[in-house]
Amino acid sequence: MTRKPLLIGNWKMFKTSQEANEFINELRRQLATSFQDDREVTLGVPFPSLEAAAQAAVGSPITIAAQNLHWEAEGAFTGEVSGPMLTAAGARAVIIGHSERRQLFGDTNEWINKKLSAALKYSLTPILCLGETWEDRKTGRAFELLGRQLAEALSGLTTPTLVPLVIAYEPVWAIGTGQTATPKTAQETHAFIRQWLTAHYDHSFANAVRLLYGGSVKPDNVAQLMDQTDIDGALVGGASLKPDSFARIINFDR
Ligand code: 13P
Repeated sequence: MTRKPLLIGNWKMFKTSQEANEFINELRRQLATSFQDDREVTLGVPFPSLEAAAQAAVGSPITIAAQNLHWEAEGAFTGEVSGPMLTAAGARAVIIGHSERRQLFGDTNEWINKKLSAALKYSLTPILCLGETWEDRKTGRAFELLGRQLAEALSGLTTPTLVPLVIAYEPVWAIGTGQTATPKTAQETHAFIRQWLTAHYDHSFANAVRLLYGGSVKPDNVAQLMDQTDIDGALVGGASLKPDSFARIINFDR
């Protein structure tokens, strides 16, 4: 089974529509001579910049993702944005359950489950984020916690509906800290996630789902991470904010 590597930049709360446009034009310029189409590229963009980003990416290998969504299509939900609004703005994917949303904005596994269903319903590729805290890792409870996040996020969802799913393992202790999980720790955890999927779904689905690693991915550590059997891509925060550093991550040596 070959899983096509997927490199995703998560811009978080950075970049106006004009900055998004400039970034994408520059990234396209840098990729024009170097891009290899044995990999895919996505940018996770703040809501107000989605449309400009999607327009700037037309005709390029870059697809655009949002960073959150509400599960209803419309309604009296002040401040929320729905799946149909995201697709209309040009998004083709959506990040769901990022640890910053879980920790700072109260996203629960139950909400994440609803958001995942909505993303699938509105043809947005869901990028489901999971991850344990340092406390969980230190006390040997990381896999238990990740198993619970998986079970609750995927509750009631079955194949083939779930086929587009992408999972990003982002240990909370590695996000924005410069402390990347070692390739060995990341690989062990990805193998656990794939085994969990095999046990709860089936081998062919588990084998096809792309599992991304996130947490202090940089141009100089991406190749080592991507070299691991069960690491199929990266979800990149800080190092996706400059076109040259993100281009170097995209162009990692296989
Ligand atoms: P950093 O790459 O800045 O550690 O952020 C990781 C992340 O949260 C991506 O979603």
